[in-house]
Amino acid sequence: MSLYEPREDSFLLQKQIKNYAKGIVLDMGTGSGIQAEEAVKYADRVIAVDINSKSVNYCKKKYKEIDFRKSDLFSNIKEKFDLIIFNPPYLPNESKYEDVELDGGEKGYELIENFLKQAKKHLKKEGQILLLFSSFSKKEKIDTILNEENYQYKQIATQKLHFEELFVYKIR
Ligand SMILES: C[S@@+](CC[C@H](N)C(=O)[O-])C[C@H]1O[C@@H](n2cnc3c(N)ncnc32)[C@H](O)[C@@H]1O
Repeated sequence: MSLYEPREDSFLLQKQIKNYAKGIVLDMGTGSGIQAEEAVKYADRVIAVDINSKSVNYCKKKYKEIDFRKSDLFSNIKEKFDLIIFNPPYLPNESKYEDVELDGGEKGYELIENFLKQAKKHLKKEGQILLLFSSFSKKEKIDTILNEENYQYKQIATQKLHFEELFVYKIR
């Protein structure tokens, strides 16, 4: 399993962090640690997790001030957060080959759905989520899930690429 190298999606999300990071922050699916590295400039404490041990081991050596843990979504998380950041794998995987960095599930939004169902238990009263996703992960379906799960949300950034459009939502 390799490490997700930051690209347009990572940079679009990273740009939002300074406006929202405070208190205790979780970077879900930290990859190279790019979002956690930005959040720690503004927050009191940052926890960052990834299902990929390679990512966790790499980041632990690079950033001493961040608490990196291996975790499948919230499996290794007990804390509640002021901000949760997630740039999830969001591509549909209709093939039999798995790629944990990119596959968001068969339809592209299943991992995001699981995340949203669990995340509310890990938000403080005024806590917020910054979620990035793509037109490939079916925006209408994500809106439906957010409504079903009683979240309030607002699109705060977007970027058109060659074949897809990226979105960042602020969710509470
Ligand atoms: C698109 S990459 C984003 C990496 C980095 N946060 C960034 O913005 O560049 C998605 C990351 O989520 C991780 N991931 C995939 N499934 C996960 C899960 N169930 N729990 C935690 N992390 C997961 C992948 O290993 C990968 O590092």
